[in-house]
Amino acid sequence: MNVELSLYNPALIYTGQKQFDCEHTVISSFVHNSLKPQVKKSLSVAYVLTDADEMNRFVGFYTIAQHMIDVALLSSLELGSLPRKTPCSRLVMLGIDKRYKGQNLASMLMKHALTVMRSIAKQMGSFGMYLDADPLALGFYQKLGFALLDENKAPEPSSMFLPLSSIGYEPSTEIVHKKIHRSS
Ligand SMILES: CC(C)(COP(=O)(O)OP(=O)(O)OC[C@H]1O[C@@H](n2cnc3c(N)ncnc32)[C@H](O)[C@@H]1OP(=O)(O)O)[C@@H](O)C(=O)NCCC(=O)NCCS
Repeated sequence: MNVELSLYNPALIYTGQKQFDCEHTVISSFVHNSLKPQVKKSLSVAYVLTDADEMNRFVGFYTIAQHMIDVALLSSLELGSLPRKTPCSRLVMLGIDKRYKGQNLASMLMKHALTVMRSIAKQMGSFGMYLDADPLALGFYQKLGFALLDENKAPEPSSMFLPLSSIGYEPSTEIVHKKIHRSS
């Protein structure tokens, strides 16, 4: 196994994308049918893991998008005063092919997703990461520090959140100057 992470390019054909099987029907069929059109329309951005030892086989992925979270959903986390609609990043989909599970590949994708979120926060604001977790994946996200927003909903897909402040992010204090030249 020689796995590499890259930005998903909808213009490319990925070996094994149509056979991808993460043992979750909705997520696997998303990869087969909807990943390419969704990225083409810029509805989300995807990062993929490919295995160079297997003709760059598609072995895992996540998609991320901007999101506005209703502040009422965050009330149990006691994060102080926030706007009614708070900007955040949303992890939309995540999956690892069944042949590659249990090798920390999903953790590696999540670390990358948090790095992407930090960079989004720097450029245009993002209070944290929101996701809807499959009941069987709750423990995976809890290990990464995500908190359940509505315990009563389990075992349905459950909303989870990780505030940016909890991963040691500080807003930049760098001063950015840009000169504007006028012709007249
Ligand atoms: C959930 C999923 C992404 C995990 O992928 P993976 O590559 O096997 O996970 P990792 O090897 O990176 O696991 C990292 C840690 O989380 C734990 N973990 C993995 N899956 C878990 C789960 N479902 N529940 C609880 N803990 C889990 C691992 O034991 C490991 O713990 P450790 O660091 O103490 O050893 C994968 O099983 C999958 O694709 N599932 C189907 C799709 C899905 O449910 N996606 C999430 C939808 S919201």
